[in-house]
Formats: sequence, structure tokens, C-alpha cells
Amino acid sequence: MRTRLVVGNWKMNFTEAEATAAVQSFIKMVSAKSTVDVVVCPPATCIHSVRELVKDTHVKVGAQDVFWEDAGAFTGRISPRMLDDAGVTHCIVGHSETRGRFGKLEVPASTVSTFVETNETINLKLKALLFHALIPILCVGETTEERKEGFTEAVIREQLAGALAGIDASELYFFVVAYEPVWAIGTGNTCEPEEAGRVCRFVSSVLAELLDADVAENIRVLYGGSVRAANAGDLFQQDGIDGGLVGGASLDPLEFSRIVMSA
Ligand code: 13P
Repeated sequence: MRTRLVVGNWKMNFTEAEATAAVQSFIKMVSAKSTVDVVVCPPATCIHSVRELVKDTHVKVGAQDVFWEDAGAFTGRISPRMLDDAGVTHCIVGHSETRGRFGKLEVPASTVSTFVETNETINLKLKALLFHALIPILCVGETTEERKEGFTEAVIREQLAGALAGIDASELYFFVVAYEPVWAIGTGNTCEPEEAGRVCRFVSSVLAELLDADVAENIRVLYGGSVRAANAGDLFQQDGIDGGLVGGASLDPLEFSRIVMSA
């Protein structure tokens, strides 16, 4: 069985003081559960302090996004080399919010086109992360309309194939994929556990086709989208779900600890 993994994606939340308070309040409970791998992905401004707070535990620090070049005239971007230097081990790539696919729209609709991410940019980011031995957490998932029209599998297959183009299976031993249906993110509409399990198994089957069955067997597939302490147990029991990518609930230390406990 693959080791369970719970990742907290804090998104654009927490000042340094708030991040410190949150980690201090969950670290004892979470680090006691050493059989579950745990990663927290703070905003870039808090990476350094969070890393200091977790350094004597098995909890790892991840980033929420990355650029693909190591250095250069790219105002506002953060490179994989910088993440490595900051002590980051994991990085989320291709989150629906960076692809401009929002479960709950909290920005003016006219600005959505500024959130641009394509399979090609995701592919470049994955290659750059792997070059620096950072572990990518690739997000895939369909919108409400795509699901209604029966395109869930086709969308996921295309996202996986585009992201992994030209990457050798041997580089992907520690790779992680998160199935995050866009309609479930930040909406409270969790995917039914059986359906989440079915799609996560589909993700593994596509990975086996695109890569190699042995490598795919080791790739953990997480479910993300309105995971809470109350539904985490049911979700994590499903065959094919190796843990969770948790947004809103990871901001509440007690809730996050409970989710880790149920993994
Ligand atoms: P919520 O748990 O807030 O729905 O967010 C999920 C997510 O997008 C994690 O990356």
C-alpha cells in the first residue's frame, strides 16, 4: 500500500504571524501521526518561517506554484532553484485556480483571463521541478459543464498527457497527482467518495498507459475539493485515494489535524 499523504494548500491566506500560530497549534498532533506523510504549502512569504517551525518533524514544506526558468528577467516569479534553496520539497502545479478555472468565482469575471496556465506551461514547470529534484503535485480535474457533458475522463486524460509530455517515467517515482474536480473546490460540494475513488483509479490507469505500470503503481493520487474532517474518513477509505489536497480546512489547525488523523 502506498503511504498516505495529506497536503494543506493555504492558498493566499495567512501573514507570517498567523502562519506561525497555525503551525504551532497543529504541529504536535500532526507530527505524532508519523505514518502519514504531511506537506504544508504556505504562501511564498511564509515559507521560511514555516520551514523553521517544522524542521524537527516529518512535516514537509511545499510551494503553491513555480516558474520554469532558474533565473532571469521574470518580475514576480519564483524559480525552482529558489524553492530548493528555501528548503521546499514539494510544489503544486496546474492548480485549477492558476489555470483560471474557478469552483467559486471571487474575482470579476472580466479578470479571469489573466489566470493563464496551459498544458505547455505546466509541462515546463514539471520538467524544471524534476531537474531540481523537487516533487510536483500535479492537479487535474473537470468543471461542472465538462462533467455534465460527459467529458470528465477526456479532460483528465488530456491534462495528464499534456503535463507529462516528454518526461521519462524513471523521473516520476515520487510524483503526486491530485484529482480536484473544479466544481468541488471551495464550494462545499464534495465529490461523493465512491465517485472520487473511481476517478482517482482512472487517473492511475491513465498514468500506467502513459508511463509504465510499475512507476504508476507508486504514484500517489490524492483527492481535493471541500475535504473536511467530517468527510475525510469516507474519502480516504476508497480504493484508489491515497490522501487529500486540502484547501480551506487546512487553515484551521484542529480541522487539519483531524484530517491527518483520519488518513
Ligand atoms: P478546498 O478544500 O477549499 O475546497 O480547496 C481544495 C483545493 O483547491 C486544494 O488545492
